[in-house]
Amino acid sequence: MTDTLNFEGRVVIVTGAGNGLGKSHALEFARRGAKVVINDLGGATSGGGRDSAVAQKVVDEIKAAGGEAVANGDSVEDGEKIVQCALDTFGQVDVVVNNAGILRDATFHKMTQEDWELIQKVHLGGSFAVTRAAWPHMREAGYGRVIMTASGAGVYGNFGQANYSAAKLGLHGLAQTLAIEGAGKGIFVNTIAPIAASRLTESVMPPAMLEGLKPELVTPLAIKLCHESNTDTGQLFEVGGGWVSRLRWEQTQGARFNPAQGFSAEQLADEWDTVQSFEGAGHPKDMMNTLKVVGELIGVDLSLSKQ
Ligand SMILES: NC(=O)c1ccc[n+]([C@@H]2O[C@H](COP(=O)([O-])OP(=O)(O)OC[C@H]3O[C@@H](n4cnc5c(N)ncnc54)[C@H](O)[C@@H]3O)[C@@H](O)[C@H]2O)c1
Repeated sequence: MTDTLNFEGRVVIVTGAGNGLGKSHALEFARRGAKVVINDLGGATSGGGRDSAVAQKVVDEIKAAGGEAVANGDSVEDGEKIVQCALDTFGQVDVVVNNAGILRDATFHKMTQEDWELIQKVHLGGSFAVTRAAWPHMREAGYGRVIMTASGAGVYGNFGQANYSAAKLGLHGLAQTLAIEGAGKGIFVNTIAPIAASRLTESVMPPAMLEGLKPELVTPLAIKLCHESNTDTGQLFEVGGGWVSRLRWEQTQGARFNPAQGFSAEQLADEWDTVQSFEGAGHPKDMMNTLKVVGELIGVDLSLSKQ
């Protein structure tokens, strides 16, 4: 099949591109003509350490195949340095794939402040820092594509990953607001929750599972969402092992009470089935439905309010 999703003339930053998913994304962007910034700190899976050879190895592989890439060994916490590297080397930044990550798993009662803060710093803080530095350039160009890499652990929760779950779903919250703010400037932001064999999963998945979950089975979604033909934004996708699926919010019709009279916990208990019933449920795309329902109840048109 011929490649129609071409990235000639585009500059792509992939963070954490020295291993696993990021490396797979970076190789494919480069193969499709993009100039790629291969960012990777080259540290341990639990954070700490640094090795500039990790990013350079991927650059060498891209160059050997005739592609263009530059290595960057900064931490994503220093996002402006990574974006500056893209600007200094290639003069622009069109795509940011926020992918770098580490794990500090512990059950909540054993989780230290350091476990918590490091995960927020790298995943949420790093994605903020890189995207924030790229944002003005994308706005000025009237063009941008951004990916946040979340996780099923954030969407559904996962034993021993309270820090990681919080950061990962936080990334989707960030993506949804950036999708709203970026839409008028041609900047589209989406979230992927992948599942793949990598350094991060090799100790928790059985070998047969790892064999089937190649990172290359996640990359087509990153390519599709970052191409100029893509206009989807603010969406959340699960992807892995050859499966790609979209998730959305579902909202029950809910119980309604007279706000002037208030209501008791007992009245709410009587209506609990109504609160929870998904019969006739809606799929709100933004805050408008909530504002409409609440506005009707309190007799104020909230649709004109700033969300
Ligand atoms: N593999 C999965 O099944 C899975 C599932 C859900 C989410 N994810 C997410 O996908 C992303 C990629 O993970 P992976 O599985 O490919 O792991 P990986 O360990 O193979 O790759 C992550 C890369 O990020 C780099 N990195 C870590 N901290 C960094 C920092 N501060 N600055 C720059 N680079 C840094 C590491 O050196 C490493 O090369 C992560 O955000 C991870 O949380 C992976």
